[in-house]
Formats: sequence, C-alpha cells, structure tokens
Amino acid sequence: MELVTDPKELQSYLDQVRVEGKTIGLVPTMGFLHQGHISLIERAVTENDVIITTIFVNPLQFSANEDLSTYPRNIEKDTELCLKAGTNVLFTPAVEEMFCDTVLTSISVSNLSSVLEGVSRPTHFSGVATVVSKLFNIVGPCRAYFGEKDWQQLQIIRKMVIDLSYPVEVIGCPIIRDHDGLALSSRNVYLNSEQREIASIIPQALQNAHERIRGGEKNTQPIKEIISEHILSSSQISVDYIEVVNGESLEPVIQVDEETRVLIAVRIGTTRLIDNINPHIGINPI
Ligand code: PAJ
Repeated sequence: MELVTDPKELQSYLDQVRVEGKTIGLVPTMGFLHQGHISLIERAVTENDVIITTIFVNPLQFSANEDLSTYPRNIEKDTELCLKAGTNVLFTPAVEEMFCDTVLTSISVSNLSSVLEGVSRPTHFSGVATVVSKLFNIVGPCRAYFGEKDWQQLQIIRKMVIDLSYPVEVIGCPIIRDHDGLALSSRNVYLNSEQREIASIIPQALQNAHERIRGGEKNTQPIKEIISEHILSSSQISVDYIEVVNGESLEPVIQVDEETRVLIAVRIGTTRLIDNINPHIGINPI
C-alpha cells in the first residue's frame, strides 16, 4: 500500500494507472475507521483494480461550534485497517495541501442540503459536496463508495454527479450495525457506557416502525409518533427530527410507498446520532 499526502503526486500516479487501462475505486472517509468504512473498501476491492481510500477531516463541513478539533483520529490503526481491507493507495492530505488560504469556490446542492441535517447544519453539505468534488477531480475514480448510514449525503452526492456530469458511478452501501443494531459511527466513541446502552433505543424504535408498516400501516404520521414515543421513553435522549420522506427527493410523504425512507437524528448528552431505514426492510444487525 502506498501512502500519499500530496494531491498532485496522487493525480499523476493515477494518470499512469488510467493509461494502463485499470479501473479506480474511491472510498472517501474522515478516518477513525470502523467496520462500516471497511465494508466500503471491501466492496470497492471486488469491483475495481486500484483502490484509493482517503482520510481527511474536512474543515469545510464543520461549523464553528462543531467537533473539528476533537474529531477522533487514529492514523496508525486506520493505516493497518486500510492495508488489511485491500487499499492500494491511502491518501491523507494535510489541510494546507488540500486547500489554499482562501477557498472561494463551493458546490451547493440546493434543496437537498437545507432539509433534515441541513436545518441544524446549514453549511455542512456544501462543505461535503465541495470536498467530494475535489476528491473526484484529484482521483478521477470510475466508482466511488458511500454508506447509506449518511443517507442525505448519499443523495446529495448522487445529485451532484448527475448535475455536473461527473464520470463516476456512485455506489451506496448498506449500513453496518453493532450487535444491538446501533449504526456504527466514529462518533459513538463519545458515548459513555450508560449512553451507549441507551443508544440501542434508536434501532429498536426504527424496527418498531418497520413492524407497524409490515402490519399494514401506510400513514406516516402514526409511524413518526411510534418512533417518537419509543425514543422519548428514555429521558436521556432528545429528538432532533424524525422524518418519513421520499428517499431521493427527501421531501416528506404522507403515505408510505416503495421509495420511502425513514430518517432520524437524536441527541444523547452532547452527542448527535443519525440513522435511517428502508421501512420495508427494517434494520439488519450484524
Ligand atoms: P465518514 O463519516 O468518515 O464516513 C465515510 C463513509 O463511511 C461515508 O460514506 C459514510 O456513509 C460511511 N459509513 C459510516 N458509517 C457507516 C456504517 N455504519 N455503515 C456503512 N457505511 C458507513 O461521511 C464522511 O466521512 C464525510 O462526509 C466524507 C464523505 C468523507 C466527506 O468529507
């Protein structure tokens, strides 16, 4: 596995890879890797000749009051995991290597970015879209891998790729969950052991909703209420949003159909957690 930090060096290395007719798979991450990230790399390995994993804690997607400086990091362990999963090039640029002093350009995927997560994080998704666009330009991948864990992010990247004609296939990969169904997330380390136990209410509430829908409930209002009641059975969780939306447009729906997605954001203490399900399938613990 090659370690590269200079974007120009990576670009010219990959020019050569393309001349040789090899396919390139990109897995963008912010590091502190867990099995969710690894599942993306493993999928990329099965579909591409050369796998680029990036670790870059992107300042553009954090607002002033968010956890940029305390975002968890462990580059040694990440490097080991990337190697083991089959990464060929690990790209870990410094902030100064990615961005000059004043970045004047940004990508904004309007509408999709202002709802759900965008309500409390209004600049977040333009930060994500801008850095992902930059990674696409540096790497020039045939395929890029993103988790359904960040459903809204996945839809935004898909739309950006369509709108700007990026020659990239965006592959959405299923959510990897812990033994109790909690979606794996780098932010789970912020939870103390009591909070971690309480967090299992999130997948349970989503699974409840799935069961109600399987039982024939089509109206989204009672589904949202079921989730809300379940979550609020613990006084330590507060709900940021529970939404039932069209999975692509992210617009709220009144009745569940084939394209419906259920999304939730909660706070436990100071930690904000998100999750979502296809309500026809529910959650699949590993
Ligand atoms: P990060 O949170 O590190 O996530 C990197 C990728 O891993 C994302 O596509 C995310 O959806 C996926 N992922 C995280 N947890 C997962 C899980 N439990 N199961 C499946 N996939 C999971 O998302 C970002 O970084 C950044 O916004 C980024 C796209 C890298 C841009 O900076």
